Amino acid sequence: MTKICVLFHSGYGHTQRLAETIVESLAEQAEVTAIAISQDGEISDAHWQALDDSDGILFGSPTYMGSVSWQFKRVADASSGRWMMQNWKDKLAGGFTNSASMNGDKSSTLAYLHTFAMQHGMLWVGTALPAANTKAAQRNDVNYLGAFSGLMAQSPADASADEAPLPGDLETAKLFAARFVAQCQRLA
Ligand SMILES: Cc1cc2nc3c(=O)[nH]c(=O)nc-3n(C[C@H](O)[C@H](O)[C@H](O)COP(=O)(O)O)c2cc1C
Repeated sequence: MTKICVLFHSGYGHTQRLAETIVESLAEQAEVTAIAISQDGEISDAHWQALDDSDGILFGSPTYMGSVSWQFKRVADASSGRWMMQNWKDKLAGGFTNSASMNGDKSSTLAYLHTFAMQHGMLWVGTALPAANTKAAQRNDVNYLGAFSGLMAQSPADASADEAPLPGDLETAKLFAARFVAQCQRLA
C-alpha cells in the first residue's frame, strides 16, 4: 500500500485541522502517518523513519510573517542529513498552508515548501483544481483562493480552530489529498 506522510506544524490549530482533513482523506487509499511538529520544532526518531520509508510527503505550515513557522524550518534544516544522501529523491511532495488574510503572502510559504522539496530531489504535485473566480463564485466554493502550486486555506484571525478553516477550504483539502494519493499510486 502507498505510504504517505503528512508533516506539519500548527501553532493555534487551524493548520492542524487542514492536516487532519487531508489525513482522513488519504487514509481511504494509503497508509498514512500524521507527523505533528512540536512547539519546540521537533519530531521523533520514529517519525524520521516514517518519512524515509514513505512514497510521498505532504508538507504543511501556517504562514507566519510570509513564510513557514520557525518550528517547520527547524525540521527542514534538520533534514539536511537526508539531503546530503538524497534519501528523499523521487518521492512525491506537495504543500499546504493556512493564514489569516485572504492573501497574506501564502504564496511565499508554498514557494518555500516547493524549494525545500526540490532541494531533496522530490517530485512536486500541485492542486490541479480550477479556481472559483467568476462573478457567481462563493467563499465556500472549491479552490476559492485560486491556488495551484499547493493547497491554501484562510482562517480569520479571530476564528477558533473549530470555526475555521471554512468548509470550502476543507473540501479543497480533500480533493488535493485525493489528487496526491492518485499520483503516488500512478508512480508506484
Ligand atoms: C507570528 C505570526 C505571524 C503571522 N503572519 C501572518 C502572515 O504573514 N500572513 C497572514 O495572513 N497571517 C499571518 N498570521 C496569522 C496566521 O497565519 C493565522 O492565525 C493562522 O490561522 C495560524 O495557523 P495555525 O492555527 O495553524 O497556527 C500570523 C500569525 C502569527 C502568530
